[in-house]
Amino acid sequence: MAEAVRFDNRVAIITGAGGGLGKDYALEMARRGAKVLVNDLGGSGGGVGASTLPAEEVVRQIRDEGGEAVANFDSVSTRAGGAAIVQAALDAFGKVDICIANAGILRNNRFEDIADDELDAVLDVHLKGAFYVAQPAYREMRKNGYGRFIFTGSASAMYGHAWQANYAAAKGGLMGLSHIVAIEGSAYGIKSNLLMPTAISRLGDEMTEGFREIPEFAKSLDNADWSASGGRQTVNFNTPLVLYLASEQCDLTHAIFSANSGRYAQVHICAADGWVTPAGTTPATPEDVAAHIAQIADLSIYHKPQTVYEEFSAVADAARRQGVI
Ligand code: NAI
Repeated sequence: MAEAVRFDNRVAIITGAGGGLGKDYALEMARRGAKVLVNDLGGSGGGVGASTLPAEEVVRQIRDEGGEAVANFDSVSTRAGGAAIVQAALDAFGKVDICIANAGILRNNRFEDIADDELDAVLDVHLKGAFYVAQPAYREMRKNGYGRFIFTGSASAMYGHAWQANYAAAKGGLMGLSHIVAIEGSAYGIKSNLLMPTAISRLGDEMTEGFREIPEFAKSLDNADWSASGGRQTVNFNTPLVLYLASEQCDLTHAIFSANSGRYAQVHICAADGWVTPAGTTPATPEDVAAHIAQIADLSIYHKPQTVYEEFSAVADAARRQGVI
């Protein structure tokens, strides 16, 4: 049996914790000893309006169970909001150990019709919002030599979902953000991972099925096999992975994880061994590329560089294997 995952003396900021996934993370972390800053703007799933009630209700529930929490109602989507959220955690609890960037909205539309209000609002909440909260939180963690970040990505970005170009652009950006926080944070005891959660939540109400007009994509929905998913697409099936990633026990960083219907899996970015052009300084032609396209795509040998520079070593490895150097 693994050691209990506890958060005694740990302070966690969870954005968008007034409902859905974030609420369940907050409740369970508090049960396991964390002091939780419950942030939520309290607007609609489309990002309209505001209310203090969702965050207040979660804090009330945590306190009723004997836990410690404070509410904050700032929007993540401005630099001032991000700073105020981190300051609220410092005012209440004196430090920040864990930051879960979870707040989110949806404004789905077909790619060619996405207007500025749909693009900006989604980028502001997901991408800039995570950045604005994470940056001041990171400064505090760096001072303390300890930190855990969980950025909330999405299968919509990593695999794809029609009518979500704005959302996928934002969620894909969070993968890059998490990678850099992980790399820089490695010098200061800070770990960062990207989570791809799956849950039936109120965001489902924003998922109008206009995307069915894309035949190949609609087929992927119609043909999906849900047999492992019955009763398991609930928020609390995501929480165990999130709590592990937020814990001291977690040694993993710079990684991507999927939680889907009770299946937890690391999602890898990898590069095929590929095709290496013959020795010398003459580049390949487009026809050479066409002739080798199957080898370029072949994953039977692959590399998993963790930095830009490790890719050069992967290239040298491929070149050696293919007899080019
Ligand atoms: P939800 O709508 O229940 O929760 C999101 C929360 O974020 C809401 O309580 C909302 O008030 C809050 N929020 C929105 N804008 C905010 C802002 N500017 N500042 C502070 N709080 C704000 O939805 P759910 O499903 O719990 O989503 C949580 C996160 O997980 C989101 O980032 C979402 O994109 C992501 N996600 C969810 C998936 C799912 O299957 N439910 C799949 C992939 C990603």
